[in-house]
Amino acid sequence: MKAIRMIGAVLAALPLVALAQQPVSFKADIRPVLDDYCLSCHVPGGKGYEKSKLDLSSYQSLMKGTQFGPVVKPGDSQNSTLNMLIEGRADPSISMPYGIKGSLSPDKVRLFKRWVDQGAKDN
Ligand code: HEC
Repeated sequence: MKAIRMIGAVLAALPLVALAQQPVSFKADIRPVLDDYCLSCHVPGGKGYEKSKLDLSSYQSLMKGTQFGPVVKPGDSQNSTLNMLIEGRADPSISMPYGIKGSLSPDKVRLFKRWVDQGAKDN
């Protein structure tokens, strides 16, 4: 009996695990959000770029980070500046997208988290 209940619990948990591990694609999932919510400021000439030197127009420039270094630690969203800012874990004055009320929807925020935790790949 006990073993059967355990198997039941394992089976019930499977779909959740599968969902969490579904690969996030930089091109299909992340790129469009950067385009819509970040590029207005994070390209040369934009105010986010001018202040931080963070250019979000390509994978390479995103991974290069700000004048102080990377904002993404592949595999570690908890300690990645980019995730801290969009999750609102940093000082509210520098939450991203900067000065835009409502910011990113929770599912977009989770996409960034999963993308970084899966290694922040250029996929
Ligand atoms: C309205 C303009 C604007 C938009 C839109 C914007 N940013 Fe920014 N961003 C800024 C400014 C300005 C700074 C510099 C903040 C400071 O140092 O005071 C900055 C800085 C940053 C930094 C670096 C923080 C550091 O370590 O110094 C990151 C990471 C960042 N933005 C990510 C994003 C992401 C991701 C998006 C889109 C979801 C985004 N930003 C959208 C203006 C913007």
